[in-house]
Amino acid sequence: MNQAKTIDGVVVSQRLREEVARRAAALAAKGTTPGLAVVLVGDDAASAVYVRNKVKACEQYGLFSTLDRMPATVTEAELLERIHQLNVDPKIHGILVQLPLPRHINSHKVIEAIAAEKDVDGFHVANAGALMTGQPQFRPCTPYGVMKMLEAYDIPVSGRHAVVIGRSNIVGKPMALLLLEAGATVTVCHSKTADLAYHTRSADIVVAAVGKRNILTGDMLKPGSTVIDVGMNRNDEGKLCGDVNFASVSEVAEYVTPVPGGVGPMTITMLLVNTLESAERVLHV
Ligand code: GUN
Repeated sequence: MNQAKTIDGVVVSQRLREEVARRAAALAAKGTTPGLAVVLVGDDAASAVYVRNKVKACEQYGLFSTLDRMPATVTEAELLERIHQLNVDPKIHGILVQLPLPRHINSHKVIEAIAAEKDVDGFHVANAGALMTGQPQFRPCTPYGVMKMLEAYDIPVSGRHAVVIGRSNIVGKPMALLLLEAGATVTVCHSKTADLAYHTRSADIVVAAVGKRNILTGDMLKPGSTVIDVGMNRNDEGKLCGDVNFASVSEVAEYVTPVPGGVGPMTITMLLVNTLESAERVLHV
């Protein structure tokens, strides 16, 4: 029986993080430590965990970080004021406002308030537009991490059919653009797609970014394909699981990413890379 190989996000991350640490040390030797400002609004438990991991990774790999925790009752004006302070703070090279934000705050307005040259998430329209027109400054961390995983395992992209499931601004849409930039023929599927399996059965690469368990099973795949699982869900026992049925997919695919230990660590790694490169740009390194 076929047993897919696992794409290990921890191993790929480690290699990239060591390079970040080397380059961060080189900048520090010149008097500048790359700095990331993280802003967390409210007390969503999952967001608190993600944010803690981001700050911890900065400390481990030689970046400076600040964490602003604001109550869920903070006003939009107060949040915007804090962003303006961070925009003009020379110690800060990257600003990340953890999403989702409470409903009374307009996320779009908040993202647009971040200086484009510090928008390490790559969510600002200037950065989304730059990616769209083939001149990316910051690539959104999760899809960028996926591209690095494919590269690390020598999985060909150019000329292949890639199916992205999900059309969010954070993952689905930028993922499709990065795959397109790398020469793939890209299909974007989503909740309104009539026959998902019709598309995935001809895919060489499937990226699942939906936020729902078991949306992809082995019978929906072409033998030898690569499956990237961006999902972060909890099963009935409260255990972390992705969007794909790992056991079933492993019987048909050649490569698959696990959850946890797949895309998750890569997202944080690429945040470190984007922050480092932002600081390097300021110093013309
Ligand atoms: N919430 C879920 N993923 C992300 C991300 O990549 N960046 C931010 N800022 N918030 C998120």
